Amino acid sequence: MKEFMINIAYLISASLFIFGLRNLSHPKTAVRGNMIGALGMLVAVVVTLLDNRIVDFSLIILGLLVGAVVGTVLALRVQMTAMPQLVAVFNGLGGGASALVAGTALYELLSLGMTPDVPFTTATVASGIIGAVTFFGSGVAFGKLQGLIKERPIRYSGEQVVKALVFGLALLFGLLLIKNPGDTHLYWLMILVSSVLGVLLTIAIGGADMPVVIALLNSYSGLAAAATGFVLENNALIISGSLVGASGIILTNLMCKAMNRSLLNVLFGGFGEAVSEEEDIYQGKVKATTPEEVALILEGARRVVIVPGYGMAVAQAQYAVRDLYNLLESRGVEVEFGIHPVAGRMPGHMNVLLAEVDIPYEKMKELEEINPTFDQTDVVIVIGANDVVNPSAQTDPKSPIAGMPVLEVWKARTVVVIKRSLSPGFAGIPNPLFAMENTLMLFMDAKKAVQEIVNALKES
Ligand code: TAP
Repeated sequence: MKEFMINIAYLISASLFIFGLRNLSHPKTAVRGNMIGALGMLVAVVVTLLDNRIVDFSLIILGLLVGAVVGTVLALRVQMTAMPQLVAVFNGLGGGASALVAGTALYELLSLGMTPDVPFTTATVASGIIGAVTFFGSGVAFGKLQGLIKERPIRYSGEQVVKALVFGLALLFGLLLIKNPGDTHLYWLMILVSSVLGVLLTIAIGGADMPVVIALLNSYSGLAAAATGFVLENNALIISGSLVGASGIILTNLMCKAMNRSLLNVLFGGFGEAVSEEEDIYQGKVKATTPEEVALILEGARRVVIVPGYGMAVAQAQYAVRDLYNLLESRGVEVEFGIHPVAGRMPGHMNVLLAEVDIPYEKMKELEEINPTFDQTDVVIVIGANDVVNPSAQTDPKSPIAGMPVLEVWKARTVVVIKRSLSPGFAGIPNPLFAMENTLMLFMDAKKAVQEIVNALKES
């Protein structure tokens, strides 16, 4: 009966995870989705703590306390721009924990004098390999994003063969463990080799592609958790691990699609290797402007579209952007936001920042919706965005971003681009938009620039 009740509770928690995920798919319901997911996790944790096999709660309570303190401090202190690193840490810890729990379950069974069967050891091997790859892969991803490790992809000849051999060795130790489950050395050898694999897989990818890699590692951490669920015969872990695995791979796919790249190209393509520093496409064509001139142009505008990008996040300009939005709307100007799916450095980056300052959701338009409206727009203000408004995605088939859907801002009457210099963005390529006839460049920090435009508008 108790077993039945526990499974019912796990089913409720799994349903809460699914409802939570459903709600997370829209910014309006995302906060609720997060709460529902957290409630599901609380139910799962409480039910698991009722397990008869727990003999001592002291270590569990200590773990909960340490985890709660570290989690709270991190959540409060981490900057929005450092969110991908934080997710990398979470994924890594999830993968590492799954591998360790699966290994401990093996030791527990052996210490009771029992012989683990093939399904048990197979799941243990899966959890060990995927968990170790996730832990060390995420560690490298964190290091690259935090600037602790060289961002450039580390490539060498015979790279794929080396990786295939290392993977083969990890599998070999895994298969030997399935055959001789009593030989726990094999488990640690497998973990060691898989850890090397995790490092090799991630150092070969450029820092620029790390957000996609992190989404993929997120999926791996879910698979490791699901495998550990099979080891422990815990339905909640199997279901939640599978949900993380599936949503991670869906997110990875969405990110690749929005960049018009295949996952294989991200993993093996070495994007970000060749960064062109010098380009003369701008020579004599770039027109610089001032906040006062922009304010003057805005005074005559009836429809304005704001396109935010990574620079808005770096400058934390969203509050100033909200002030500009409020001021323009109060003067009867129609203002909308054009949000590119991969603007910034993580999915939904711009939506989160704009939601933080209470920009109405219905004002945030997706690419497909806003693109047909640019030719009826008086002024587009591009704030710290670069690649997502680069016309060469459509015009230059050799461009690294060729085919990537972009916001066609150049179709507006006037385009104001706010950034500090002519430096390239994430893709490391020049942007012909900056040299177009109807483009004005406001070379300033995004926050300062928008604040000064607002001040100039108020004074006029
Ligand atoms: P980017 O192309 O990276 O351009 C950002 C621009 O912001 C830079 O050119 C920089 O120019 C400017 N900037 C930086 N700090 C600034 C500041 N304080 N004030 C004003 N401007 C500042 O950004 P984007 O257009 O948002 O495109 C995102 C890129 O990231 C895409 O290539 C996308 O594929 C990639 N990516 C995104 C994701 C997700 S999920 N969002 C994941 C992986 C990859 P200055 O230095 O001249 O100021």
